[in-house]
Amino acid sequence: MKPIVSPSILSADFAHLSKDMEMINRSEADWVHIDIMDGVFVPNISFGFPVLKYVAQLTDKPLDVHLMIVQPEKFINEVKALGAHVMNVHYEACPHLHRVIQQIREAGMQPAVTINPATPVALLQDIIQDVYMVLVMSVNPGFGGQTFIEHSLAKVRELRELIDRTGSEALIEVDGGVNMETGAKLIEAGADVLVAGSALFKAENPIEAIKQMKSL
Ligand code: DX5
Ligand code: ZN
Repeated sequence: MKPIVSPSILSADFAHLSKDMEMINRSEADWVHIDIMDGVFVPNISFGFPVLKYVAQLTDKPLDVHLMIVQPEKFINEVKALGAHVMNVHYEACPHLHRVIQQIREAGMQPAVTINPATPVALLQDIIQDVYMVLVMSVNPGFGGQTFIEHSLAKVRELRELIDRTGSEALIEVDGGVNMETGAKLIEAGADVLVAGSALFKAENPIEAIKQMKSL
């Protein structure tokens, strides 16, 4: 089955965002990945809701919103207002993860849990039946253009086993350092969704790069 490809607009040209959104619209991309950072959970700040309100209007593709913030449950209504398809919250940012997942579902979005590189897959055992997707970070979150952490492949394999063993239908998404080479390995390991920023936006022909990633 073809992977779901979710270009991360963190690597887009912020001075000409509408141009890059237009490119995504014309491409085979399935979703649009949106990274929200708060300078607290991660050592960087990206963009907030006043900007995203306009970005969201530039596409009909489903929005895959990745919150790298503390207390993400405070912003469920704002993410919903963007018309998001998926709301990803970090395991490490949610002491009451089960409640947050329920609240996201009640708000009419698909809940996803994200794990940092040092967070073991085994910690997801008691939430795997409740989530639409698990996002495995294959770099430390906060910046685009970092190098893929090879150990992420073993985590994806372990997660695939956990999902198959428990009868969960959760999708496996991977984010960070994903390119054609690491993307192919990830699909072999069992990933369903590839997030990519620099590999797509910095490509000579982003539309072609997205097409290539779709056919990995
Ligand atoms: C990093 C973000 C990613 C980022 C990926 O914290 O979550 O979505 O845009 O960028 P690349 O694909 O360049 O590693
Ligand atoms: Zn992301």
